[in-house]
Amino acid sequence: MTESTLHVLAISGSLRRGSYNTALLRAAADIAPQSMKIDIYPIGDLPLYDADLEAAGNPDPVNRFREAVAEADALLLATPEYNWSTTAALKNAIDWASRGGVEAPLNHKPAAILGAGGRFGTLRAQLHLREILSHNQVRLVEHPQVQVSMASDKFDSDGRLEHERTIDQLGRLLVALEDLARA
Ligand SMILES: Cc1cc2nc3c(=O)[nH]c(=O)nc-3n(C[C@H](O)[C@H](O)[C@H](O)COP(=O)(O)O)c2cc1C
Repeated sequence: MTESTLHVLAISGSLRRGSYNTALLRAAADIAPQSMKIDIYPIGDLPLYDADLEAAGNPDPVNRFREAVAEADALLLATPEYNWSTTAALKNAIDWASRGGVEAPLNHKPAAILGAGGRFGTLRAQLHLREILSHNQVRLVEHPQVQVSMASDKFDSDGRLEHERTIDQLGRLLVALEDLARA
């Protein structure tokens, strides 16, 4: 890969408008290095994975999503923690992108995980997510691990990340993702 712009597809596991995880991805897009472009891809219109839908030819939103994953140089996945795991919405998106055997768009993608939540900052959700992604041999950034605890204290009322240490960590995560993707 040349030093051209690195295209990162960012996916939030939360569908709600006021989501801290989506806000975290907006913050990432704002501070991304000049060599990187981060686009947030909404996954709310993906149907639940159904092998019958797949056998009939994937629905349009699924085709669009799979294409976006295939074209991306890297993924940035923000997960809330729901019942000690990632969310059904994100797992569903991953399931769709995981299909196709050796042609699956998710195979071997460079990716970084992050999350915003309560006291433990989505620690358990991120551990599960790592395991899920290993099925398609997604290549994950190991360090830094961005677990934003007590998220409500770290964003202002407009959903802007205002916590300096988290902003710094986020910046280092993006650099690590770029290094991994260009390696
Ligand atoms: C169904 C459900 C389950 C949840 N389970 C957990 C949990 O296991 N651990 C935790 O720290 N927070 C849990 N929460 C709280 C969410 O992580 C928190 O609301 C978070 O802000 C959601 O992310 P978002 O702001 O991006 O929507 C749960 C929330 C919901 C709706």
